[in-house]
Amino acid sequence: MQQAADIPGEAVEIIIVDDRKENLFAMEAVLADPAYRLTCLNSGEALLDYMLNADASQVAVILLDIQMPGMDGLEAARFIKSRKSFRNIPILFVTAHSQTESGITNSYSTGAIDYVQKPFNPDILRYKIRALVRVHHYQQELERANRRLRQKTLELERNNRMLAAAEEKLNRVNQELEQTVEKRTASLVRAYQEIRESHLLFRTVFSTSPCMLAIRSVEDEFLDVNDAWRELSGYSLEEMNRMPEPYLDMKLLEQESFTADEQALFHRNAKIQFQTKTGAVRFGLLSEQPLLLEGVPKLLIVIMDITEKEHWESQSARLERLHLIGEMAAAIAHEVRNPMTTVSGFLQLYKRQRRELTEESVNMMLEEINRANSIITEFLTLAKNKSSDLQPRSLNAIVESIFPLIQAEAVMNSKQALAELKPIPALRLDEKEIRQMILNMALNGLDSMEPGGTLRIETAMDGTSVLLTIADEGCGMTEDVVQKLGTPFYTTKDSGTGLGLAVCYSIASRHNASIRVETGSQGSKFIISFTPPQQQPE
Ligand SMILES: Nc1ncnc2c1ncn2[C@@H]1O[C@H](COP(=O)(O)OP(=O)(O)OP(=O)(O)O)[C@@H](O)[C@H]1O
Ligand SMILES: [Mg+2]
Repeated sequence: MQQAADIPGEAVEIIIVDDRKENLFAMEAVLADPAYRLTCLNSGEALLDYMLNADASQVAVILLDIQMPGMDGLEAARFIKSRKSFRNIPILFVTAHSQTESGITNSYSTGAIDYVQKPFNPDILRYKIRALVRVHHYQQELERANRRLRQKTLELERNNRMLAAAEEKLNRVNQELEQTVEKRTASLVRAYQEIRESHLLFRTVFSTSPCMLAIRSVEDEFLDVNDAWRELSGYSLEEMNRMPEPYLDMKLLEQESFTADEQALFHRNAKIQFQTKTGAVRFGLLSEQPLLLEGVPKLLIVIMDITEKEHWESQSARLERLHLIGEMAAAIAHEVRNPMTTVSGFLQLYKRQRRELTEESVNMMLEEINRANSIITEFLTLAKNKSSDLQPRSLNAIVESIFPLIQAEAVMNSKQALAELKPIPALRLDEKEIRQMILNMALNGLDSMEPGGTLRIETAMDGTSVLLTIADEGCGMTEDVVQKLGTPFYTTKDSGTGLGLAVCYSIASRHNASIRVETGSQGSKFIISFTPPQQQPE
């Protein structure tokens, strides 16, 4: 007979339920084995009671007597099978010989595994119990394996989830990387195209530019010259490289206004004179621009040929001067001829008729001669080289000295004049000239106004400058008139000489003062700005 003790592990529980003590003893004796922990109970109720606190996983089998007073074996088995935690415990019924077939079938229907008949064969009982204990061990093992499997499955699932998350992240990073690569590639392609286009553009501009263009290396070697360079200078690239410095016999005509740190750098529109292969001298504007061509520093030289412009400008300046002289001569002739005509008329009358010269006609002749003289005098004040007698003077005092005359003139024409003089420092002034300037401007202002208008003469400080303002409420001036202000003999008046403002501008320039004009439908303002002596340049 094989011993149950060969089954590994700790002792398993076997519950024996029988109402008869002698049966319990008998079965206990048969099943006594260190591998079994036997629990003997004497009723169905005792079994249920016991099971409520038992560790179901340790119970390998329940040996259950069917016939018992109170709760019988079948009822107790049904109860056991109805509870989830006990359901898998095998039940081995112990039946009496007298048990009918239907009784046995009944016992199976409760979920019993097997049965033994009383009186039982000890060996058969031991075998059956041993087989059931083994099944119990397998089941335990299976459950442990199942638990391990579930654990592994959980771990696997967790790993899978982590893998999925990592994969998703990887995909995202991959996508971003692809997008970045795509963008970079596109911008590289664009940059390459732009470089190609700008290179092409540079080549096109270089070769078709009407300006003379040349590229030189840092070692002063000519690397390229354009068509305009070859045509205007007459020299090819090879000839340029054989030429001594300064190339094209170039001479700087005007000192450029470089700042100290720019001195050693590059020319910008420097006016130059250069010689062509035929020996002709031409004029140009020279500019130099450092640039990188294929990563190598080069110098782009640009010469704009201004020979034609220079000729045209000098000719037109000469023409303008001639034109102005002509205009002035005509105007002076006109202005001076009028009094001459009057005087010569009187003298002819006297000669022809041998009439006495009356005092009245002598006075008239003198008046006409004086008028001619004053026109010539006024014209001479325009002369640029006329020198002024500049002395420290109070501008306010000069205005006050001339103001009564202006006021009288205003009142005579039903207008008024006001003076508002603020404290100002002394200026270096030619008193006679300043008086004349104020008078000329004031008379223009009075002329421009209808009766009732007010002329204002003001002095004030503006920062460090002294301002003299002569403002009227007259008709204002068109843009065309403003443009021509100060042009000698320009007048819109029937009896005007058109010299008034020309004289004013020339006086202002001798005083280093500037004249600003503001005009509109409300009137005009002439603002003369003087610089006090300590600020005047030496
Ligand atoms: N305050 C002003 N308002 C409107 N027009 C003006 C004013 N000042 C000057 N002008 C215009 O400028 C022109 C030139 O002025 P300017 O003083 O030089 O000569 P004029 O006044 O015409 O003649 P003159 O002063 O020699 O008698 C004037 O004819 C006038 O059209
Ligand atoms: Mg005038």
